[in-house]
Amino acid sequence: MPRTSRITIRTAEATEAPSIHALITANLAEGRLLPRALGEITLRASKFVVAVRGRKVVGCAELARLSPQVAEVRSLAVDRTARRHGIGKALVDELRSRARREGYDQLCAFTHAPGYFITMDFSIVPHLWLTEKVFADCVKCPKFRHCGQYAMVLPLESNVDSIDHTIQPVAVYP
Ligand SMILES: CC(C)(COP(=O)(O)OP(=O)(O)OC[C@H]1O[C@@H](n2cnc3c(N)ncnc32)[C@H](O)[C@@H]1OP(=O)(O)O)[C@@H](O)C(=O)NCCC(=O)NCCS
Repeated sequence: MPRTSRITIRTAEATEAPSIHALITANLAEGRLLPRALGEITLRASKFVVAVRGRKVVGCAELARLSPQVAEVRSLAVDRTARRHGIGKALVDELRSRARREGYDQLCAFTHAPGYFITMDFSIVPHLWLTEKVFADCVKCPKFRHCGQYAMVLPLESNVDSIDHTIQPVAVYP
């Protein structure tokens, strides 16, 4: 990627759905991503964050709601020509900020690449810690119980600023 290329990270537009679809489809095997239908991406465009170079979509990821507490990173992919420039991490970072703003407690990912997410402070957890995902998607999947994916979680400290860290006495003794 030329050094002068500017990358913008922003919410996807519905008209970009074909590019997002093409990017996910091109990375299905490598990332063992779930296939996504063009119509579904078009409808959910506002949930996708894209990385754009010039007018080309070179990265994408979706913030998907699993429950009022848990959101999931889905369909993370970066075009081969744009890799190793921090775009993947910038996309996950943007999803993390959005999830925090939207009031979720946790961001999770199901992945065959746990090492990548560990560098972004996610931790591997048992699948059953994410019952929302197991009951919404996994039980319908032909690879249920033998998918080889890691469940990963990142706690979101959305309310950190509002937590009162001053020490309050629980009892006062004479
Ligand atoms: C994984 C992916 C999104 C990373 O995109 P990227 O923009 O190149 O990522 P970044 O630039 O933020 O990070 C690159 C770093 O992550 C590392 N990395 C990439 N894939 C990794 C993996 N599977 N495990 C551990 N580290 C990995 C790279 O080696 C690189 O390290 P370096 O900076 O020390 O050289 C991209 O390779 C991709 O689209 N892969 C195919 C689809 C996929 O696997 N999606 C994720 C499945 S949930």
